[in-house]
Amino acid sequence: MNNKQMQVKYRCPSNIALVKYWGKKEGGVQLPANASISWSLSDLYAETTMIATTGVGPKLTFTFKGESKPSFEPKILAFLERISEYSDFVKTHNFIVDTVNNFPHGTGIASSAAGFGALAMCIADLEGKFENGSSEFFERASFFSRLGSGSASRSVYGKPAVWGEHPEILNSSDLYAVPFEKEIHNSLSNWKDCVLIVDDGEKKVSSTAGHALLENHPYAAARFANAQKNISEITQCLESGDVVNFIALVESEALQLHSMMMSSIPYFTLIRPNTLAILEEIWTFREETNLPLAFTLDAGANVHLLYDKQNENEILNFIDNKLLIYCKNGTYLCSNIGGTPQKIA
Ligand code: PMV
Repeated sequence: MNNKQMQVKYRCPSNIALVKYWGKKEGGVQLPANASISWSLSDLYAETTMIATTGVGPKLTFTFKGESKPSFEPKILAFLERISEYSDFVKTHNFIVDTVNNFPHGTGIASSAAGFGALAMCIADLEGKFENGSSEFFERASFFSRLGSGSASRSVYGKPAVWGEHPEILNSSDLYAVPFEKEIHNSLSNWKDCVLIVDDGEKKVSSTAGHALLENHPYAAARFANAQKNISEITQCLESGDVVNFIALVESEALQLHSMMMSSIPYFTLIRPNTLAILEEIWTFREETNLPLAFTLDAGANVHLLYDKQNENEILNFIDNKLLIYCKNGTYLCSNIGGTPQKIA
């Protein structure tokens, strides 16, 4: 039998959640306890090349920037094995995968959303089950991404993406993310994100372990209910352009995420003293200038500074004058919001 070989390459952006996913539902693989919504970050991305050859699979040869990375392989093979339950294509192929991120390794930026997103796009494309670019195609890619990392399910759309069932989001699902189809108000349609690198080390507690701690968490039910409510409110802000409430909700979500970590049993912290110093500076700056900017946090110490692009000069001056001293090696990385995955010739 001839071994058929196919190759594809995708670039997929990372994303930052405005309303956070933290905690899973029981009874399935990577089902979120509440809905989340994110902006994708077009300038922080992964590029993945995948070569698929027919054969009993899935088998994997993985390289990162062309170099072998044995420590990454088990996670990606487990991802392919999960997908193979839903895809005969994955069951009947072997894969050679090379991935590269455009942001420096070791900046503490979560690369899994971009990485799994790019892998999932490659598989959905090679599998050829749905027409590339159709809504079924993106749903399938999002479904696959979710099986690698929940937050990755939101990386396949350029528009804001919602993952998790929510009564007010049409066609929303726990199985895959959907694009937020309503028109975004001008005052929130052209923002940027600068990620201030506070800590570039390995996380003390992985996301997987963090999610699991929600199972017996004293405040879990209240948190999940509040996140559902915040989805309703933040989507209204995006439509109406209520920037003041948008900022309040985004910052509250970030602090709730970290409060859940601090009140887990066992408890832990991922923010560092410099994280808090930056938040204080942001609040002072906002009070003094009245400029619209908000912070949010991922599962880590770094601060995402979200701001309206029209104020870029003022914000970059603010970063340079006040925030740089709190950044590891003075590092921060800026990105536009938006950007769908792209197939690379
Ligand atoms: O996708 P995971 O399992 O790495 O979870 C990440 C969750 C947060 O980044 C903290 C929040 C989110 O919704 O992206």
